[in-house]
Amino acid sequence: MNPIHIAPSIIAADPLAMGAAVRTIEAGGADALHLDVMDGQFVPNLTLGPAVVQALSKATTLPLDVHLMVDAPERYLETFAKAGAAGLTVHVEATRHLHRTLQAIRALKKTVGVALNPATPVSAIEEIVDDVDMVLVMSVNPGFSWQTFIPRSDAKILAVRALLTARGSRARLQVDGGVDAGNIARLVAAGADTFVSGASVFGTPDPAAAVRALRTAAEARA
Ligand code: DX5
Ligand code: ZN
Repeated sequence: MNPIHIAPSIIAADPLAMGAAVRTIEAGGADALHLDVMDGQFVPNLTLGPAVVQALSKATTLPLDVHLMVDAPERYLETFAKAGAAGLTVHVEATRHLHRTLQAIRALKKTVGVALNPATPVSAIEEIVDDVDMVLVMSVNPGFSWQTFIPRSDAKILAVRALLTARGSRARLQVDGGVDAGNIARLVAAGADTFVSGASVFGTPDPAAAVRALRTAAEARA
């Protein structure tokens, strides 16, 4: 199994204090910084773009895990790669030629991620799972932090883990949405190893301690 990774989501932090937020999660031992890019089309919200990604890349040594919640993300891969992304995750539902899009991320020498919305079956990634470094299971409908974990996601994590095992894949299995210290151990048991957390880190008075608490709870089960 891959080591546990904790990737706090910066959109849950105070937008006027993102630099300070990054320093606190570094102090807490975060493994990556998760950046939610939303276009107001694929999801009903607008967030940050390449300029913010570039600024954050200069403010931290953490790898930038860029989650593209945009239609036709193939249009922006190079832009976010240049802005400093370490990894690019695209949604199955957002791109017409998924295989080509994943190959384009690979050609940019970035970590290749594919994401599934809650209503999308695991079978949607069967044909491309050998081409990715990470599968992201959305455990809320994408668009906003602070939402409630969808219970059915447990079954999807189990199914993705079974698929990865069957293919002999070392890809990471990331869970995004409503992850907290109360459910993370259960998600590790189901087969996840990489956790995005917005509210449960930046919604607390001490984000560094919150990152440590997530890791402790996750590793207790790993
Ligand atoms: C939701 C985003 C998430 C979100 C997670 O569309 O992809 O990354 O910021 O926030 P929480 O942990 O608060 O659900
Ligand atoms: Zn995300």
